[in-house]
Amino acid sequence: MLLETTREENPLRKGMERERSPEPCVMVIFGASGDLTSRKLLPAIYNLAREHYLPSGFSLVGFARTSMSNEQFRQQMFEAVQEFSRTQPVSQPVWESFSQGIFYHAADYNDPAAYEKLVEFLIQLDRERGTMGNRVFYLATPPGVYSTIIQQLGISGLAKPASNDSWVRIIIEKPFGRDLESAHALNQLASQVFTEDQIYRIDHYLGKETVQNILVFRFANGIFEPIWNRRYIDHVQITVSETIGMEGRGSYYDESGAIRDMVQNHMMQLLSLICMEPPIAMGANAVRDEKVKVLHAVRPIQPDEVLDFTVRGQYGPGVIGGKQVPGYRQEKGIKPNSTTETYVAIKFFVDNWRWAGVPFYLRSGKRLPKRVSEVAIQFKQAPLLLFKNSRMAGLDPNVLALRIQPDEGISLKFGAKIPGQTIQILPVNMDFRYGSSFGVEPPDAYERLLLDCMLGEATLFTRSDEVEVAWDFVTRILKGWQQHPPEDFPNYPAGSWGPERASQFIETDGRTWRRP
Ligand code: BG6
Repeated sequence: MLLETTREENPLRKGMERERSPEPCVMVIFGASGDLTSRKLLPAIYNLAREHYLPSGFSLVGFARTSMSNEQFRQQMFEAVQEFSRTQPVSQPVWESFSQGIFYHAADYNDPAAYEKLVEFLIQLDRERGTMGNRVFYLATPPGVYSTIIQQLGISGLAKPASNDSWVRIIIEKPFGRDLESAHALNQLASQVFTEDQIYRIDHYLGKETVQNILVFRFANGIFEPIWNRRYIDHVQITVSETIGMEGRGSYYDESGAIRDMVQNHMMQLLSLICMEPPIAMGANAVRDEKVKVLHAVRPIQPDEVLDFTVRGQYGPGVIGGKQVPGYRQEKGIKPNSTTETYVAIKFFVDNWRWAGVPFYLRSGKRLPKRVSEVAIQFKQAPLLLFKNSRMAGLDPNVLALRIQPDEGISLKFGAKIPGQTIQILPVNMDFRYGSSFGVEPPDAYERLLLDCMLGEATLFTRSDEVEVAWDFVTRILKGWQQHPPEDFPNYPAGSWGPERASQFIETDGRTWRRP
C-alpha cells in the first residue's frame, strides 16, 4: 500500500542547521513493525529531530509484512517514542512536524513488485519532500531475511545511487552471521550488491559515549600511552554483566547464546579499542585498520583448548533484586533441555609487542547481580614493597576502571596513607563521572550511529574484515564447545556472579574477578 506525502517542510529546521547536518535523505526501515524499531530506532530518530540534527525533508518509510496504514504506523511509533525515548515528555510540535514525514509500506520481503512500488514511492518523496535521491536502508528484520532484502535491493536498482550527486547506504543490524562461514557468505552477497563504503554494519556499543571516550582517553592525553603496555599492565578484565533474562527474546537467544550475542561483537570491539595502536588519523579506514590488526593478533583458542581457556554457564532459578526469577530453561521460547550458554568467561592473549604475555579476562552473562559494563586495567605492583608492615589493603594494585555503564566514568585506584602516626595504607579512588562533570545526558548510541551513517561517517561501524576476524576467533571456540557439550547446566543461580568454575579459572592464575 502506498502512501500520501506532504510538501510541508519541517518548521523546526528553519535557520537551525547544526554543524553535523546531513543532506536531505529518506530512511527505509525493513522490519519496521518489530521490537528494535520501536525500542531503539524511532526514539533515536525522534531525538535527532528534537535536537535539530535531521535534514529538512527527512522522511522515514517503514517496510514490514504487518498490514497497517500510514496513520496506524505513526500512532504505533508515537507510542513507542512515548515509552522508550530518553527525553520525556514527547514534544507535540516536534512530533507533529516529524511524523508528517513518516510512511508505511506493507509488503513481503521477497516480492519484487513491492520493491518496484518502493522505487516509485521514493522518487515521489524526492520530488515532494526534496530528499534528493539519498537513501539509507536499515535491515532491522530477523537475520534470516537479510539476504532476500539485499538481493531485492540489487534487482530493483535501489542499491545504486540514481545520480553522481546522490548516495545510497545500507545499515545491517547484528547478528551479522552466526559463524565465520555465514558471516563470510553475507559479506560476499552484500559486496555483490553494494560497495564496502555503502555498507554500515552496526554495533551499538561503538555508539556509546563512554566507548568512544576510550579513544579520547588514550589518544588525547599524553600520560597514559607510555604505561599502556605489557611492562606496566598485569592484566585486563572486561565485564559486561546484565541482570535481565530473556525479556521475550528467548527464541532468538536460544539459537545464539552469550558468545554470539555479546562477545563476537560488543566485547571484541571493546577489546580492539583498548588494545589498538594509535591510528595515523581519525578516519574510518585508519581506525579500522588498527582495530583489525589487534583482532588478528588475538591468539586463537583451538577447539581442543576450550576447557582451559573458556567457561560456560547457564542460569537456574534464583533471586534478583529481592525478586524470585525463573531459570533459563523455564523462560518463554527456550527448549526445556537447552544447552545454550547465558554466561561466558574467556581468557586470551594478544600476541604483539605491546601486549605479549598480558592475559585478558572477559566475562559476560545474563541474570548476574548487577548491570555493569566496564574495562578494568590492573597494573603491576610497585617493584619493591617498602611498606611491608603496613596494612595489606594498601598493597592493592592500581586499577584503572573505565565504566561504560551505568554510572559512566573513569576511576583510578591507588594506595593512600591514612592520616595518623603510623603508616597505614588504604586504597582510594580518583574519580571522574560524566554526570557530575558535564551535567548533560549523553545521546543514545543509536542517535550517534544513525546520524553518522547519514553523514557518511563510517568510523564507528565495523568493516567486513573486522567482522570476519572476530567470527574466526569465536567460531573456533564454538567448535570446541560442540565437542565438549556442557554437562552441568544450569550451573549458576540467577542473581549470582556466574558458575563456580569461572572463579577457579582466574584464581588459578593468582588473580580474582573484580566485584564491580
Ligand atoms: C544486545 C544484545 O546487542 O545488547 C542483548 O543482543 C543485550 O542481549 C544488549 O542485552 C546489551 O546492550 P546494552 O546497551 O543494554 O548494554
